[in-house]
Amino acid sequence: MSTSKVAVIAGSTREGSFAKQLARAATRAVEAAGGSATFVDLREFEMPLYDGDLEEAEGLPKGAVALRDVVKAHDAFVFVSPEYNASIPAVLKNAIDWVSRPHAAEPGVAAWPGKVAGLLSSSPGALGGMRGLVHLRQILMNVGLQVVTEQFALGGAHQAFGDGAALQDERHRGGVDKVVGAVLRMTRALAAAGE
Ligand code: FNR
Repeated sequence: MSTSKVAVIAGSTREGSFAKQLARAATRAVEAAGGSATFVDLREFEMPLYDGDLEEAEGLPKGAVALRDVVKAHDAFVFVSPEYNASIPAVLKNAIDWVSRPHAAEPGVAAWPGKVAGLLSSSPGALGGMRGLVHLRQILMNVGLQVVTEQFALGGAHQAFGDGAALQDERHRGGVDKVVGAVLRMTRALAAAGE
């Protein structure tokens, strides 16, 4: 069986982002569990806010095409999202929206369907951003991803990482491993069913 390719997408662009730190921890967890992982920093995929007139005149912006190519090259995703006003940040929703658009004679949402996703969130607050995950799950299922039941919300994220950006608490590492394990199991099961 080939190695499952997992893209770990952080829903924050800022350098010191807790979501980025958690995404890096998830990337290491994927590799430790036998998958291959790509860390996706949305700052590297510059794109304007979705605009239908711009799309009609110029098609997808370069950053959206590049992100779409990354999505197409992977079997599964771990989304790591901060929570903004009890939902997901605009930068993440905007990226999902652009990638869900038709491109190069392929229909809309062609990049996502049939693939697997797992959800993580982080926040300095006690709830760890779990309210945003309700919305993220719904959005991702709408674009055709199989979202695993397991999810993990990291509360107190400002105190969770030590030197080397590793999660200090075994329970936090367990929460990440639980999601990563479920993503890899479902990805392998879908690949086996399709063989
Ligand atoms: C927040 N923050 C926040 N936190 C939370 O737990 N629930 C929330 O609803 C919100 N809402 C919110 C709205 C906006 C516009 C901002 C900028 C921030 C705080 C947020 O969790 C905190 O800034 C994180 O550090 C942002 O994530 P990164 O960049 O550290 O990954």
